[in-house]
Amino acid sequence: MKSGHSPSVPLPPDHVTASPPPALRAVEVSHAFGDRTVLRGVSLSAAPGEVVAVTGPSGSGKSTLLHLLGGLDTPGQGEIWWGEQRVDTLDTQLRAGWRAQLLGFVFQHHYLLEDLSVAENLQVPLLLAGQAQDSPERVSELLDAVGLGGRASESTGVLSGGERQRVAIARALATRPRALLADEPTGSLDQANSRLAAGLLFSLARQQGTGVLLVTHDEALAAQADRCLHLVDGVLSA
Ligand SMILES: Nc1ncnc2c1ncn2[C@@H]1O[C@H](COP(=O)(O)OP(=O)(O)OP(=O)(O)O)[C@@H](O)[C@H]1O
Ligand SMILES: [Mg+2]
Repeated sequence: MKSGHSPSVPLPPDHVTASPPPALRAVEVSHAFGDRTVLRGVSLSAAPGEVVAVTGPSGSGKSTLLHLLGGLDTPGQGEIWWGEQRVDTLDTQLRAGWRAQLLGFVFQHHYLLEDLSVAENLQVPLLLAGQAQDSPERVSELLDAVGLGGRASESTGVLSGGERQRVAIARALATRPRALLADEPTGSLDQANSRLAAGLLFSLARQQGTGVLLVTHDEALAAQADRCLHLVDGVLSA
């Protein structure tokens, strides 16, 4: 971890976490959609607890890379490892179980469950990770942390873009994941809420040793990472 991040938002007190965060390693990952090659031999290592930013032009493959690293999809070629676990060879069900235990994900397009309330959206990952017993307290402290404490029972369908993004961030943090993948986590936020969201993400990394891989166009956010990588036309470089 880079020192000197000044937390703007303290995280709620943590439980003692059982396992150290795993290192991430991607080896020569290539991927195509039909005849369009999107990733070309991407190799990447991140130390446990490291915060890595990935920047690059629109369409360069950033979201695709994040989805592959998070086991949402499997690469055409290459290997993806989290700690001792090779993830790309697990079947879909095992990958889903692994992901629920280890990862938090902030999607570029949020993917909130529209039929559920704000609080219920945060409860889903807690249920999937077997942490339902912690759910009410955890949900309310996280919603307070993202400034949405009064909105718990509302449908996510009525929220503004920035509010939806804050729910997505809170949901990604719900299980106290060992690693967090965040795709443009401040893309819909004004400056004040961007700072709040960045404070939450980096507090998580600092206080709990959570590894963070974030895709961003926000230079202020990228500058807070330990390391910044660039993806251009499917090729990753430092
Ligand atoms: N499921 C899919 N099927 C077909 N093509 C896809 C699919 N997902 C992504 N692509 C294509 O892969 C390329 C890279 O997409 P990706 O979403 O990874 O880019 P990105 O770097 O995240 O862009 P942005 O900054 O605009 O979010 C694009 O040309 C996109 O059209
Ligand atoms: Mg994208």
